Order: sequence, then C-alpha cells, then structure tokens
Amino acid sequence: MSQVSQVREIGVGLLGLGNVGSGVVQLLADNAAAIEERLGARVVVRRIAVREAKKRRKVAVDRRLLTTDARAVIDDPDVAIVVELVGGEAEAKQYVLHAIERGRHVVTANKALLATHGPELFAAAAKRGVELYLEAAVCGGVPVLRALREGLASDKIEALHGIVNGTSNFILSTMTAEGRPFDEVLAAAQREGYAEADPALDVDGGDAAHKLVVLAMLAFGARVRLADVYVEGIRQITPVDHAYAERFGMVVKPLVIARDHGTEGLELRVHPTMIPKRWLLASVAGVNNAVYVTSRALGHSMYYGRGAGMMPTAVAVVSDVLEIARNVLGRSPGMAATSVPRLTRRAVRDIGLLRSRYYLRFAVLDRPGVLAQLAGVLGKHEVSIAHVTQEGKEPERAVTVVILTHEARERNVRLALAQVAKLASVVEAPRLVRLCE
Ligand SMILES: NC(=O)c1ccc[n+]([C@@H]2O[C@H](COP(=O)([O-])OP(=O)(O)OC[C@H]3O[C@@H](n4cnc5c(N)ncnc54)[C@H](OP(=O)(O)O)[C@@H]3O)[C@@H](O)[C@H]2O)c1
Repeated sequence: MSQVSQVREIGVGLLGLGNVGSGVVQLLADNAAAIEERLGARVVVRRIAVREAKKRRKVAVDRRLLTTDARAVIDDPDVAIVVELVGGEAEAKQYVLHAIERGRHVVTANKALLATHGPELFAAAAKRGVELYLEAAVCGGVPVLRALREGLASDKIEALHGIVNGTSNFILSTMTAEGRPFDEVLAAAQREGYAEADPALDVDGGDAAHKLVVLAMLAFGARVRLADVYVEGIRQITPVDHAYAERFGMVVKPLVIARDHGTEGLELRVHPTMIPKRWLLASVAGVNNAVYVTSRALGHSMYYGRGAGMMPTAVAVVSDVLEIARNVLGRSPGMAATSVPRLTRRAVRDIGLLRSRYYLRFAVLDRPGVLAQLAGVLGKHEVSIAHVTQEGKEPERAVTVVILTHEARERNVRLALAQVAKLASVVEAPRLVRLCE
C-alpha cells in the first residue's frame, strides 16, 4: 500500500491475464469510481505477469504493466495483494508461497492448487499473518464460500449437495431435454465453447472433486486427501437412463455430496445422481451452478448462479480483493492477523459404507426365470427391490430390466452386481446410478 496524493491506494499484482485476469482488469476499470467510494481508497493494478508479453489481449491494458517475470510482480514494493490466476499447480504454488513469504495477501481462483496444497498454503499464510482468499475457486461468481465462512459462521453444517461443474451440468441437462447421447452433446458443447477440447477434468469429475475438497475445508474445517474422495464421471449415463429417470419423476444431475458423520468421518462423493424433480437442484440447468446447504440451526439454504466465465469469476476475485483491502485499511489492534481457515485432518468414509437407494439397469436375454435370478442374487446380498420394470419381449434378444432398490449398503450392491454380471443371460455390465431423496 502506498500513499499517492490524498487518496489512499491499494496496489494489486496480477499473475495471469487470461480469461479471469482480463475480467478482473475489466471489472476494476468499469467500477473504479464505485469501488473508490465504497472503500475510501483506490485499487490500482501495479503490474501483470503473463507468459507471452506480445500476445493480443482481451482487455485494454497499459503494456508497460506487463512482464513475463511473476516474481518481479510479487516483489514490487507497491503490491499489497497478489492475485494468482495462472492456473496449474507447480508454478502457481511457488508463486503463492513466495507472495506469502514476502508478506503479500493472496487471492486465488485455483481449485486444483487448493485441493492439493490448500492446507500447506493456509498454514503458511497463518504463520506469516496474511490473508489467502479463494471465493472464485468454487462456483465462480456465486458467493458460496463467503456464505459458509461468514453467513453460516454461527451454524453447524451437516451436509452439502452441489452442482459445481457447469460443463457436466450443461451436458446432462441437454441430454435430458433432447434425448441425445453423451458423445453427441459433448461435441456440440465443445463447438459452442461450453466444454474444453480435452473435457476429461470436467466430465470425469476431477474438477468437481477439487471443488468438493475446497467446500469441505470451508464447511467442516476439514483437511482431507483428494485421492480419498469417491469420483465417478458422467460418460456412462445414456438417454435410456434419462428416460427412466423421467418416468420415476426424477432427473440425473452431476452432484457433489458432502456429509459430516462426526467421529465416523466425512462422506465426500462426486457422481451422477438421480434426484426428484421437485428438488430445487433439479431445476438448476445448463451451465449454472448451485450448492444446497443443510445446517443445524438455519435448515436449508441454496446458493445459485453462474459458476464460470470471465466476468462471473472476476466478480468473486475482485470481491475478495475488496474485502482484504477493507480489512487492511481498517484493521484494529487485537484483531486476528488473518482469517484463513484452521483445518483438522478428517477421515473420508469408504464408498462401500454408503447407504443409498439405487437405480440398476441390466441388459438380459428374455428367458424364463431371468428376473428371479436377478432378484435372487440381489436378495442374497441384502439388496431389496422396490420396483422392477422390464421392457420388450423378444425371445433370445436382449431386453432392458430396470430395478429401483430400497436403501442398501453400497458394498453389498457392488458384490451383487459383480455376481449378476457373470450370469449367462446377462449380456452387458450392469449399470448403477445412486438415488438421493
Ligand atoms: N475460466 C473460468 O471460468 C474459471 C472459473 C473459476 C476458476 N478459474 C481458475 O482461474 C485460473 C485462471 O483461469 P483462466 O481461465 O483465466 O486461465 P487462462 O485463460 O489459461 O489464463 C492463464 C493466464 O496465466 C498466464 N500464465 C500462465 N503461466 C504463467 C507463468 N508461469 N507466468 C506468468 N503468467 C503465466 C497466461 O499468460 P498468456 O496469456 O501470456 O498465455 C494467461 O494470461 C485457473 O486456476 C482456473 O482454474 C477459472
């Protein structure tokens, strides 16, 4: 922070001027007067690190601010807040640690970095007495982390159900609405810019898992291993599954689910889930995100909006910058030096322990006794049937059998399905979708 003329200034050093960085520059410029009025100080971007200095930029920016040396930005004595928007893990981690060492406050949108190295970074920030803010890392512009950190600070969070990956939600919503297969909808999403050329991180659940780990930090103060989160993507969901969901008054959504089981650990899972159409989350369509929080005193609350994109993400980043600036300007003696979360190691429950209802789909040869065989294997594993549907009646051709179970233990369901898969009349691997009601 430096003093120039009468107006106080907060110096920001930007690492990255891609999608989000450009949005940050744009938002700070568009709202400069309002920000100055509210903060009583000016937020000034002092320097910007990029990989290629000569590249065309999405926003008008003074080229003299650009450098390819991220450390020079961090070391600039007029930079009080470093905003990390380079993405990736290794370099970003080095930059954030360097910024903390130099006593800079940090804002990052990097969920991959936080999910893997968050606890180490928070510990470093707490030790050095600087802030590490991360609102944009989950649900872009939707202030869900702020709600967990502040709005619900006096409450105890019991569970979260969220749609936190816009690409997966766009694909499943389009499949539901248009009855088209996954590959076709993915290709269309890529053409329209809703999916990356390499969609794996989005459609296979990795991005959602990063966000779930970050949510668990804020909701439960939990330090968990990313590798312990159960992750299943959406590639296996077919138009047939959507059609059955519709028939049962349900819809398939790409959910992240977290539940606190106290001394028995945390339930953390990412997978497509059938939910009742009457649920608020069922109407969260397209690229939108939402997190539905269950807390002891408040009950239910939901946070909804655009989870990605240049300007929505920039809103979260700039709000973090403003909050840090406000704290820096108004810090009174005796206040804690930093508000970074204090984390406790928590065990993540094995998915086998889950008790849930299940949608099971089988392709079987239409022979007498096949249904009884399926029921027998499920029954032997304590999986009881709530509903059975069989489609088609063509001897010696595969027909579809769909079973909805009562609540069962996942470990038992898996053992049963492994045994069913070996039956001579079963022609493809059984499919499973978890229900949440
Ligand atoms: N895009 C979104 O909607 C969104 C939403 C939420 C969170 N995020 C997170 O926000 C972060 C940034 O995402 P983005 O979409 O803005 O990425 P991006 O468009 O790829 O931009 C990355 C920027 O970082 C610069 N850069 C990369 N490595 C660098 C290095 N070693 N030194 C200096 N500059 C470097 C690049 O420079 P050049 O421009 O010269 O190549 C580019 O300007 C990521 O962590 C992402 O996960 C993004």
